[in-house]
Amino acid sequence: MPKVIVFGSMNMDLSIDAPRVPAAGETLTGSGFITAAGGKGANQAVAAARLGADVRMLAAVGADAFGDELTGGLAEAGVDTVGVRRLSAVTTGVAVILRTAGENRIVLHVGANHALTTEDVASDLRRIGEKHDVLVTPGECDPTATESALRVAHELGLYTIFNPAPARPVPDDLWPCIDLVCLNETECQIMCGVLPKDDATCHAAARRLRELGAGAVVITLGAAGAFGLGANGTPLRVPATPTTVVDTTGAGDTFIGALAAGRVRGLSLAESMHWGAQAAALAVSRLGAQPSIPTAEEVGAFQ
Ligand code: RIB
Repeated sequence: MPKVIVFGSMNMDLSIDAPRVPAAGETLTGSGFITAAGGKGANQAVAAARLGADVRMLAAVGADAFGDELTGGLAEAGVDTVGVRRLSAVTTGVAVILRTAGENRIVLHVGANHALTTEDVASDLRRIGEKHDVLVTPGECDPTATESALRVAHELGLYTIFNPAPARPVPDDLWPCIDLVCLNETECQIMCGVLPKDDATCHAAARRLRELGAGAVVITLGAAGAFGLGANGTPLRVPATPTTVVDTTGAGDTFIGALAAGRVRGLSLAESMHWGAQAAALAVSRLGAQPSIPTAEEVGAFQ
């Protein structure tokens, strides 16, 4: 089976529930404070591994306690961490997360996540990447290094999945290096100028992203499920799996990990999206990013 390579962020999440968003100058008492392993890249890697894929992580952490804990947690989840660099000049990424009524607001300290260079990523990929492997990369690392990862992976014949989160415009010539772009509504508007609100606008946005050069498109719509446009141009509509919402942190990453694991297992895009919707539903019913990500067995039992 081909493997999944994730070039992405690793963060320690400091997360608290609040009755509402505090006003400027106001102090509110929160509840349910947790520190939990997170970072979009690491979450996507853990999701793909728990769903049965052979996963390698390319990332950086600081030479500090958070870095050690995050790297150990990834290894425990079955992710190969040989490509996780421990750097003494920077601190590990941290995400401060405010949870209110099932929604998150996140402030990120990028730290070591922006320390890997274009050359670091290119050389790692050339060393371990093989044709038909899947590269997954979200947008929390250095933008130039992320672009380089997509270009090198495309050149090596890997299937590339780009999750522009946080979103920022990319050079026109990067789009043909992206086999699948997976993004939410606001990211979609930033990347292609179309805000997907219903089937017609989802379709228009996905067509636009394919005109730019992406091979396939998946737009995640929260409680409204997901919309896909495969390489053959067939629209796909997957409803969200009903669940009790405890914490949405990492649910999108779980879905993306399922798209990657589904791809290496030979599932169609539609099958992977259904699998991802079920895995994400389990993830939102639990607290924390990585602690909430289910195994393939749990998703199977949930169906
Ligand atoms: O997508 C969720 C993740 O975003 C959190 O785990 C946090 O670390 C931020 O990167």
